[in-house]
Amino acid sequence: MPFHISILGSGNVAYHLARKLRAEGIVIDCLFSRNLITGQSLANEVSAVFTDDLSQIPSKSEAYLFMLSDEANASIAAQINLPDDKIYIHTSGSLPKEIFKQKNTAVMYPFQTFSRDVKIDNFSDIPICIEASNADTFHEIRCFAEKISPLIYELSFEQRKVLHIAGVFAANFMNHSVYLGQKILSDNNIPANILNPLLKQSFAKILAGDAYSSQTGPAVRGDRKVIESHIDMLASEENLAEVYKVMSESILKTYKK
Ligand SMILES: NC(=O)c1ccc[n+]([C@@H]2O[C@H](COP(=O)([O-])OP(=O)(O)OC[C@H]3O[C@@H](n4cnc5c(N)ncnc54)[C@H](OP(=O)(O)O)[C@@H]3O)[C@@H](O)[C@H]2O)c1
Repeated sequence: MPFHISILGSGNVAYHLARKLRAEGIVIDCLFSRNLITGQSLANEVSAVFTDDLSQIPSKSEAYLFMLSDEANASIAAQINLPDDKIYIHTSGSLPKEIFKQKNTAVMYPFQTFSRDVKIDNFSDIPICIEASNADTFHEIRCFAEKISPLIYELSFEQRKVLHIAGVFAANFMNHSVYLGQKILSDNNIPANILNPLLKQSFAKILAGDAYSSQTGPAVRGDRKVIESHIDMLASEENLAEVYKVMSESILKTYKK
């Protein structure tokens, strides 16, 4: 298992994973970032040498963990000139391991939402989806990923892309939906936090059972009169009316109403 690594990036994922890996005893030789502020500060926190110069990333590390934006991961992977016998890893849900041209390549995709300023309470709840170019690297990456969480899943690139889409529906669209609900309320001078008990109970039901059987509301009841009246009320907000229609149609079709 790689104990000496170098990290590329100082954004949301790098901030959390670099600190967790350091806390687990991994030595971070070097932290590369184009961002002098977040890069230097994260490097200090994890006792790594900081550089914003690709050519200064040391060749002595056993693995190189890329946590740049997807575009930068691919373009910097093509530019680096580091030894072939090390392990090259990225954390993206939507890039293949083949962005690296070296022989030992891997993906370690943490299926969680990371924001720098939001603490991760429990790393051991985070599923880590891994894949590698060969059996030896797979074994190394499995042990390495277990430093972050015991929930390891072996997923191919195709499966990882499917998981990513599922996450966009289940988390990103859900978050946007809550935002739209909060905006409708605040635009109408009603406190947005009136939604909170409803959100808590809705989550509790999903987590206790499943989303299909937890669905309530006019669409699952097939109440087209209420749906039409809501769409009329939203007429001045074209985007909201469109989202409302698409979501209602999806629920009507799902429950064959
Ligand atoms: N955030 C999540 O919830 C999450 C979850 C799982 C996986 N991932 C994956 O993890 C990776 C990192 O995501 P993130 O959310 O940490 O991204 P992020 O917060 O946007 O950070 C991206 C990092 O890449 C750097 N960067 C961007 N463009 C660059 C360029 N052209 N050249 C050099 N550096 C560049 C940024 O530097 P600056 O600070 O200067 O912009 C920053 O250090 C991505 O592959 C993402 O798909 C993210």
